[in-house]
Amino acid sequence: MADGMLMPSYGGQMVETPEGVRVEFAVREGAIRTWVRDHGDKPIPASNVSGKATLLVGSKKVELPLQAEGETLVATGAISQADKVTAILSLTVNGKPVSARFTQAELVKPTTLAPQAEMGKLAFESVCAKCHSPSLRGTDNGPPLLHPYYAPGAGHGDDVILATIANGRKSHHWKFGDMPKPELKPGQEKDVLAYVRAMQAANGITAGGPVMMPGGHSGH
Ligand code: HEC
Repeated sequence: MADGMLMPSYGGQMVETPEGVRVEFAVREGAIRTWVRDHGDKPIPASNVSGKATLLVGSKKVELPLQAEGETLVATGAISQADKVTAILSLTVNGKPVSARFTQAELVKPTTLAPQAEMGKLAFESVCAKCHSPSLRGTDNGPPLLHPYYAPGAGHGDDVILATIANGRKSHHWKFGDMPKPELKPGQEKDVLAYVRAMQAANGITAGGPVMMPGGHSGH
């Protein structure tokens, strides 16, 4: 299976291990989340999975036991979505050992923003951040916007994003549910878009970057 067929459900990173187990991993503020699915993409109940995460956060090593919560394995600890993180998950899935490794780059916050993006930042932080996180790396209520799906020209062009900001969005990519119509003041949509695009550019989410979406332009 090509990597491009591995679709995360909760905005995280996905790998398929040599044992055919699909592991999704996401960093939240002060926590990590993991979901495990079989080769056919069927969720493996978290109660059939146990294990721990060994994290390198900056230069500090942190070990966190994972706890089952419904479909999700969770752990809380000293970790921020802005951190550079390397994670090694050592799991037992249906009685068999499985390990998976993930990395997250340090969040880049642009030191200067154009005036429109600066306005958009304020609106984003008061209206959007509760679901998409102040880091734009997602929460338990909404996906990351620093994601190749939402790169300029990746099927979510400015028109699509402006329409979402104006009207909300029915759930279609993820398992977060619907996005309600945000409570922005009229005219703030373009400011917010400018901020989202500035954060994406600063973090390498650019047109022509890696797009892991079926139906995207064919590479090579
Ligand atoms: C109550 C939570 C919530 C709030 C507040 C919220 N969103 Fe969302 N947003 C979501 C969810 C959930 C989705 C995913 C829908 C799906 O499954 O594709 C989403 C999707 C998106 C998308 C992708 C849309 C697409 O076409 O796939 C963008 C862009 C976005 N949100 C931007 C924003 C911006 C900007 C704001 C603030 C003005 C905002 N959101 C406020 C929950 C929220």
